[in-house]
Amino acid sequence: MDEQLLSIVYVSSAKQLLTDEELQGLLQKTRPKNEQLGISGVLLYGDGNFMQLLEGPESAVREVYAKICQDPRHHMVTTILEEPGLPREFAEWSMAYRRVDAPDWLLLTQALGPEGARASLSSIKIVLADFWKSVA
Ligand SMILES: Cc1cc2nc3c(=O)[nH]c(=O)nc-3n(C[C@H](O)[C@H](O)[C@H](O)COP(=O)(O)O)c2cc1C
Repeated sequence: MDEQLLSIVYVSSAKQLLTDEELQGLLQKTRPKNEQLGISGVLLYGDGNFMQLLEGPESAVREVYAKICQDPRHHMVTTILEEPGLPREFAEWSMAYRRVDAPDWLLLTQALGPEGARASLSSIKIVLADFWKSVA
């Protein structure tokens, strides 16, 4: 039987500001690995903060997320969604990436804020997908 799909969204803070080259290096390593594991998602980086969605087979997502949590390049990793069974929103991306400027980051975090999150946790993925379409 196919493993069920797990979605995780977290936010974190970079320990030091990362250059574009450093982020491209991270993505170059990450994308083939995610593809092999059947993981898709999006990574947003704005003003020293990350927000990432990982979606894929449960065991693979848990394994990669455990590594990400231990990664010394960032800290204060906070899970904001961990939900089985949601459909993929980034099926065609082994890891979409975008640097987000301050006004857009504010819009995104407001959309994901306490009220939005209370309304429906699973809508976080939809908010992320809509945000991606609006800035892509
Ligand atoms: C913000 C951030 C996002 C990351 N995203 C991923 C990811 O999507 N997939 C992945 O395999 N590693 C990701 N990494 C890297 C992992 O933390 C870790 O370095 C990598 O999985 C190590 O793999 P290895 O132990 O197989 O060498 C990310 C790291 C950071 C700092």
